[in-house]
Amino acid sequence: MADIKHLKADASQEDILSVIDQDAALILDDVLDNDLLSQIKDELDPYLNNYIKGKTEFTGFETKRVGGLLARSVGCQNLALHPLINNLACNFLEPYGDGYQLHFTSAVSIGPGESKQILHRDRGIWGGYIPRKIETHFSTIWALTDFTKENGATQVVPGSHKWDKDKTPSEHEIAYAEMSSGSVLLYTGTVLHGGGKNSTDTEIRTGVFMHYALNWLRQEENQYLSHPPEVAKNFSPELRSLIGYSKGGYVLGFYTDPDDKKGTMDSVSPERIFGEKIDDFSSLPPQSDLVKDTS
Ligand SMILES: [Fe+2]
Repeated sequence: MADIKHLKADASQEDILSVIDQDAALILDDVLDNDLLSQIKDELDPYLNNYIKGKTEFTGFETKRVGGLLARSVGCQNLALHPLINNLACNFLEPYGDGYQLHFTSAVSIGPGESKQILHRDRGIWGGYIPRKIETHFSTIWALTDFTKENGATQVVPGSHKWDKDKTPSEHEIAYAEMSSGSVLLYTGTVLHGGGKNSTDTEIRTGVFMHYALNWLRQEENQYLSHPPEVAKNFSPELRSLIGYSKGGYVLGFYTDPDDKKGTMDSVSPERIFGEKIDDFSSLPPQSDLVKDTS
């Protein structure tokens, strides 16, 4: 059976990225301390206990999903901003754009009796229009409970990021992201994966998904509606920037205050809505870059 490699929480970025280049997936063991783990569980429990289950085969009929995690959990804000993860996302996605953003937040509880999810590549959400030479995601699943093959550990096909898109894995090529609570699965948008089957009678497998993507792609979870300005004003400037309240490149994401009659809030950087003092043209690239077209 295929395996997902495990590294310790203090592994070097170089070693981590080397495994990801080879397998497109990796587990970092025991990254979170127990206090943060307990905090996140306590903050998310009211939502996971109340939510209705999925209604489609893909989302799972015995699976609960909770989004908008930054608004619902201060602990999840820490996960989103985790320094090692952000450095890795930055380095991994750097060849394909001038920045990255938080793309998706979700707590997923797979309950007893859930069947396995179809294997897929997350990059498919953009409809297959993006060439394979561009990596789109750097993704994480933080284990809030132990993940075992029996309770629904995520299925992953290591190395499948290099496969032809129509190749189907054999059973022995599928690995299971078995890990202890507090560990994190790292994977890319091009690797085949899917939720696991939960064959237990009582165990619930819960993970927190934080996906990062290139800042020139539309986010899967609409961060501006899940975390509108009246919510995001309570976030740190760093977190707001990460979810998209900042410009990508020179002009992506500028906004205009519709109530402004003086013209001082026309075509400005998103940080200005929170009163931050930003030079709207500080990131002005060379004029040649503004008309760059490599197609
Ligand atoms: Fe997925």
